[in-house]
Formats: sequence, structure tokens, C-alpha cells
Amino acid sequence: MFIRRTTPQQQQQPQEPTLGSAKEPLDGRGVGEAVEKQIRLTIPKDEISWEDTAPISDRPRLSKEERELILRLRGKVHQRVVSDFERGFAKGIDMQNPQQVRPLVERVAQDIMEEEHVPLPAKLREVLIQEVLDEIIGYGPLQAFLDDPTITEIMVNSADKIFYERRGRIYLSDQRFDNDDHVLRIIDKILSPLGRQVNERTPLMDARLPDGSRVNVIIPPLAIKGPCVTIRKFSRKPLTIEKLIEFGSLTEPMAIFLQAAVRARLNIIVSGGTGSGKTTLLNVLSNFIPPWERIVTAEDAAELQLQHENWVALEARPPNIEGQGAIPIRELVRNALRMRPDRIIVGECRGPEALDMIQAMNTGHEGSMSTLHSNSPRDTIYRLETMIMMAGTELPQKAIARQISSALNLIVHASRLSDGSRKVVYITEVQGLEGDTVLLQDIFVFEQKGVDAQGKVIGRHRATGFRPLCAERIRVAGIELPDDLFVPD
Ligand SMILES: Nc1ncnc2c1ncn2[C@@H]1O[C@H](COP(=O)(O)OP(=O)(O)OP(=O)(O)O)[C@@H](O)[C@H]1O
Ligand SMILES: [Mg+2]
Repeated sequence: MFIRRTTPQQQQQPQEPTLGSAKEPLDGRGVGEAVEKQIRLTIPKDEISWEDTAPISDRPRLSKEERELILRLRGKVHQRVVSDFERGFAKGIDMQNPQQVRPLVERVAQDIMEEEHVPLPAKLREVLIQEVLDEIIGYGPLQAFLDDPTITEIMVNSADKIFYERRGRIYLSDQRFDNDDHVLRIIDKILSPLGRQVNERTPLMDARLPDGSRVNVIIPPLAIKGPCVTIRKFSRKPLTIEKLIEFGSLTEPMAIFLQAAVRARLNIIVSGGTGSGKTTLLNVLSNFIPPWERIVTAEDAAELQLQHENWVALEARPPNIEGQGAIPIRELVRNALRMRPDRIIVGECRGPEALDMIQAMNTGHEGSMSTLHSNSPRDTIYRLETMIMMAGTELPQKAIARQISSALNLIVHASRLSDGSRKVVYITEVQGLEGDTVLLQDIFVFEQKGVDAQGKVIGRHRATGFRPLCAERIRVAGIELPDDLFVPD
């Protein structure tokens, strides 16, 4: 069997769409063209739509004027409810119980509407009451986004700019915070139950909501336009392989291959850019592990949701307010080795834990998996090398490359394309070492051909025609792969 291999130079760059550079030679020629090109690259402002047409969490969509009105009244009603409560006018009411608080909010809203001479129609009145309830019981302006299962990410850039992601697209909401203090109040509501706070000394922080959603907070002076909050919502129903195939994130042959690879205990790294779907893929792959195996997972923020009985989930600990007591992921990986695991899964390799994971993969914990942030399969190797170098080993580069090439079998590379869709764009096999370079061979790739008039990516997944070396190992493990799995169509 003849297997052609790609050298790093030959290997294709990731197919993420790139904007053409408007740089032209400086000798005067082509300057006109450059200007023209630049003009074409500038999309007219009115062609950019940030607006979503669907409601958030089944709440009515408001016109600009209606939104302003709600914002004007919301703070007033909230303040009065709080002061009524503090002055003892709401005795016996459990402020965390919506049924008990609602009548109070309704009464105060009615009073304020009368005082201000703004009789709101029923629809707006309900929005006002709901948003005040969000302030008291929930996370204020963020609550509706948290309640809407179709929304996957919430991004507060500043008090007056809340973006959210829905089905891969980012929208700007008409919802706002009253001011920076309002954002800080909601941040405090997120952090204080965890015994943590952001301030000038610790102006950035990761945290989690009780439902498992991941939160990042960064405040001034680091965040120049005001406090920022980014929430990656936790999906109670993680995506399944069937769903990923249905979405076009990968094809059935790719899924069959990956399932066989996991069952045959190949070591796999899922790589890709931020939010490209790495953790989702790792979760799907982990669920291919046979039910009788013992799995230990180590994560910075627990996100994986496995269906296994014999699964131990470990989560790293951030430092406390004094900056002490941190237990990094590296220690968890080392501890995991003493827990008689069949497989170790590291949620994300960002630093020195890469060394421990590669060593685990090399020392009998085959079938281990992790994710890593990178731009291409080749970049995944570079980054692994760098992380291992920074782990304080005295190993020369060649020895590191050898360790990686003998430990790692597959790189599954994900990407978020320009239309918001997330796809596996490469399944690449690590095939050994040539000199001190790790040899890579793409087995499946996504080929982007262009974008249609609606901006949707046109392209297809295809097998490259190379039969992976690991196919033999899969066969030996007793797993039969269809004959034509690697044949390009
Ligand atoms: N194939 C997919 N199709 C549609 N949505 C997806 C797909 N994969 C992931 N998502 C959604 O995209 C979001 C990001 O996914 P995920 O957390 O897996 O990305 P990630 O690469 O691990 O992100 P990070 O870099 O922040 O760790 C989630 O809300 C997830 O539900
Ligand atoms: Mg992730």
C-alpha cells in the first residue's frame, strides 16, 4: 500500500475564509486598484444587519420608543420595590419567590405609571413587570437571554451594548443596562454566591452560573468601555453525533471513522479556534467510549457531559481572593493517573498539562483525548511542542516531536465558518517523524468553494483518498470499517 505524505509546506492551510489584503506595491503601480479594492471591502453600514427578527424567550419585540419607555420606568419600579421592602412595607414576602414578589411589583408599577402619566398597554406592562422581576430574582437584563434555549452565548461589551449568538449568528440586542453600576451589580450577583468579587486588584475572573454556564468578567481599567461579561451557556442537552451530522458539521463516513478510532483507543486531539465547537466534539467523541471503561476527566471549568457509569469528573480550582489555593489542571492530570483510569480526558490543554497528557498517552493510557486552541492541524503540533517546552522539560525539540508523534494519532480540527456554521474541517492523522518534523496526513477535509448570496458557505466534506495507517490498528481491535470509507466521491 502506497501512502503519500504531506510535508508541512505541502499541507493545506485551514480553509477559514480570509479577507483579501488591500496592500499593494508602493511603487505607484496598482494604487488605484488598491483604493478600489478597499472600497469594495468596506461594506456599507446599512447593509450590515445586527437585528434579529425572532423574539427572545417568547417576549414581545419592542419598537425603539417602547424600549426607551421600559428602560425609563424599569429602574424606578425596581428602586421603589426595593425601598418598600427595606422599609418593611413588604413584610412576609420572600423576595426570591416570583409568585410572592409579582403582586408587589404589579402594584408599584401601577403607582408609577399613574404618577408619570404613562398608562402602558397590557403588552408593555407585562414586559415592565417581567424585567423588574428579572432584576429582583434573576440576572437583570441578561435573564431573558439565559431563559432562551436557542441562545448560546451572551456578550456584554458595555452597559448599552449586549450582543448574543443564536444559531451561529451574532445579533445586537435592544436590551440595555442602565449604566456601568448596573452591570457591576449583576456581576456581583453572579460572583457573590461563589464568595468571589472583581475589583481593581482582581479585575478579571472566570466563574460559573448555577446551571453550569461559563462566565468571564473583566472590568475597568482593563476593559476600557466599561465592565464586560461573556457567557457561554451550558446546554443541558448536549449535541449528539446525529445532530452534528444533521447540521452538516461532519459526514457519516467521518463519524464512522471517529467512532472506530475512539473504540480502538487512538489518542485524539480536537483543535480549533475559540468557540469552534471543540468541547462539543470532545463530548461526542467521549460518548463513543465503551460503557465498561473507566474515565477520568480533568477540566478547568466542568463542561463535559458523559453518559458513563464509571466516570470521575475533576475540576481545577482557581485561586481564592488572596490569590492562593489554586489547584491547576496539571495536578489533576497527575492525580488522575493514580485513579486507575482506562482513559484520561483533559478538557483543554493550555499549558504545562500538555506534557503530562502526552506522557499519559505514551504510557498505557491510550484512548486519551483533549482539546487545544489552534489554527490548523499543523499549528496544533506547534502549539503542543511549545506547551511541552514551557512545562520545564530539558528535552530537545526533536525529542519532544518524537514524543508527540508516538503519542498522538489523530487531530480533529474544527472551525466556525463565516456564516456561523461549525464544521470539522480536517481529520488528520499523525504518521510519524521525518527528521524532527511530525508528519501529518489529512484523511478528511472540508473544501470551501465560496459563499452564496445569503452569505452561506458552499462547500463539502470529502475523503482525501489516503487510507490512514491507523486503519490497521482499528481492524486489529476487531472493528470493521466499510471498504469505501476513505474513497473520495
Ligand atoms: N457543530 C455545531 N453546530 C452548531 N452549534 C455548535 C456546534 N458545535 C458547537 N456548537 C455550539 O457552539 C458553542 C461553542 O461550542 P464549544 O463550547 O464546543 O466550543 P469550543 O471550541 O470548545 O469553545 P472555547 O474555545 O470557548 O472552549 C456552544 O454553544 C455549542 O452548543
Ligand atoms: Mg471549549
